[in-house]
Amino acid sequence: MNNEKVPFVLLNDGHTMPQLGIGVWRASEAETEYSVSEALQTGYRLIDTAAMYQNEAAVGRAANASGLARSDIFITSKVWNSEQGYEKTLSACENSLIRLGLDYIDLYLIHWPTPAQHMYPETWRALTKLQRDGVVRSIGVSNFHQSHLQDLIMESSIIPAINQIEVHPDFQQTELRRFCHEHDIAVEAWSPLGQGGHILNNSTIVRIATTYNKTPAQVVLRWHIESGVIAIPKSVHSERIKQNFDIFDFQLTEADMQAMFTLDSGNRLGPNPDTMNSV
Ligand code: A2P
Repeated sequence: MNNEKVPFVLLNDGHTMPQLGIGVWRASEAETEYSVSEALQTGYRLIDTAAMYQNEAAVGRAANASGLARSDIFITSKVWNSEQGYEKTLSACENSLIRLGLDYIDLYLIHWPTPAQHMYPETWRALTKLQRDGVVRSIGVSNFHQSHLQDLIMESSIIPAINQIEVHPDFQQTELRRFCHEHDIAVEAWSPLGQGGHILNNSTIVRIATTYNKTPAQVVLRWHIESGVIAIPKSVHSERIKQNFDIFDFQLTEADMQAMFTLDSGNRLGPNPDTMNSV
């Protein structure tokens, strides 16, 4: 398996990014260094971290030790809620760069809208400056609902390249994804495997997996890819890291895709962005 098979997504700012990557939420420093090294050896080139995960330094060490050219690796980080606001975001990004040991970040996101403090328009303004200055290549948001996106679109001529949101078969966010598609905002799924929970035992997914001689996790990731969504499954185990990357030798039929689309229960695993205001 090699990374030549991973499709690239063209973002609205002209940059491209791999459609499959590795996530490191809830991974310790040691786990992160290990899993990112394993992932890069396997062929992954997209790594998703955040200041809040407290493992940016480990991501940077693994990337530096990989021997790969910086330009071959795509690294995402995010500004945490307590660092929102124009000046604070500029220094938060600088601190992320120092921890990562990098001189630019490929994609920098506002982690949550945190509507109670309503600082995301100012924070967005800081991201556009960081992009102009070249310290971040692409800018986007995470966990933004349609109303939050509309606020940004009204106030800024620069549209987020990405909205990273919770998406898995149990929580598909069809309306929000349609809105993003209409505005040329790429959708990236966090917890694409439903955090490894009951969805991987769902009888429809298990049945589909059997017909392709694949695992339920591979079928779910394939569903993301064929839906046009960027997916960043997290694993700290070598075998699963490889398994989650081994999804480019099969394709789901239209009937199987449709069967997956019927599994949406509307139940989220994470917080609701409208009420998530922790800083
Ligand atoms: P682990 O890190 O111990 O391998 P998500 O990306 O949706 O948040 O899912 C991550 C969770 O799913 C983690 O608990 C991870 O466990 C587990 N996981 C990752 N890949 C697989 C897989 N191929 N099969 C089963 N569980 C997986």
